[in-house]
Amino acid sequence: MAISTIKWINNCARIIDQRKLPTKLVYIDCRNEKQMWHAIKTLAVRGAPAIGVAAAFGVLLGLKKFKGSDKYKFYKDFYALCDHIGSSRPTAVNLFNMLDRMKKTVEDHRDLPIPEIKKLLHKEAQAIYREDQRVCRQMGDFGEKLIQSGKNCLTVCNAGALATVDYGTALGVFYSAKKKGKKFKVYSCETRPLLQGARLTTWELLKQNIDTTLICDNMAATLMKQKKIDMIFAGADRIASNGDTANKIGTYSLAVLAKHHGIPLYIVAPRSTFDLKIKSGKQIPIEERSAREVTHMGGVQTAPANVKVYNPAFDVTDNQLITGIVTEYGIIRPPFAKNIKKTLRR
Ligand code: MRU
Repeated sequence: MAISTIKWINNCARIIDQRKLPTKLVYIDCRNEKQMWHAIKTLAVRGAPAIGVAAAFGVLLGLKKFKGSDKYKFYKDFYALCDHIGSSRPTAVNLFNMLDRMKKTVEDHRDLPIPEIKKLLHKEAQAIYREDQRVCRQMGDFGEKLIQSGKNCLTVCNAGALATVDYGTALGVFYSAKKKGKKFKVYSCETRPLLQGARLTTWELLKQNIDTTLICDNMAATLMKQKKIDMIFAGADRIASNGDTANKIGTYSLAVLAKHHGIPLYIVAPRSTFDLKIKSGKQIPIEERSAREVTHMGGVQTAPANVKVYNPAFDVTDNQLITGIVTEYGIIRPPFAKNIKKTLRR
């Protein structure tokens, strides 16, 4: 894939500034943890797996300035750093799972000198990065088998190369199907309020020569009624033990519509997006973002300045509405509580 969303280069984290797409492809070098926090918060880097990698790199950035050999101070700074990065966005569990991996690296090597621990943290962050590249391709290989030539697919938000290191989860399925020579169409919901579908998904699908059509979110029901949609592929930000899945706001509406029209809905997500500590979607924290994202579009005011706004960034799709979850281990089918456990705990 020609898209490199995030990478560690010259002691910095280089990211594509996704706020500028689709009109400008601009890279930012995050040189410290504050810049990385801000990049995550403002969606310069976004998408659950990419946020996970960004969090690991954020830890490396924050530790660059640590000098000396005082272990107590090192641990104190390290945990404060993890807390700081963890405060950027609450829903995508990849962020917390990757911070936990960095913490475990420190905890498993408490007795080593600080420079050695730092080296191991670099190794772990690179392992997280490479693992994302690998698992996305594995999910693509499992998922593409679901698509036959001639099918029309629908997707929401951006679960592509831009939401991962360089391949994607839901869109990775399309890339793998394309590689197999299959011919299919993809409809992309524009995904209000921040238009990740319109700005990012169509941008990267067109780059890969995939037959892509953009629709407004409120057109999905009509397309389903017109039998223009055969299957839906979406990513995830957090999947509970019972399969309830948080993803970009609007995914739940699509799932309800899909059920009514008899259309299968597949979630595509790696192990790092599962939260086995929680029983159901009720326990998933849902990020609420600023009113301005709803009252303005591209800097232009589209609603009265004093109107009340509710802006949850994610919703939870109940497991009964999900046909299958494509993971790097294969496709998990219902009953999800039993099969998620069986697949991920082996
Ligand atoms: O607010 P965003 O753009 O970070 O939301 C992203 C999504 O909801 C994606 O669908 C999800 O993270 C899966 S990305 C492979």
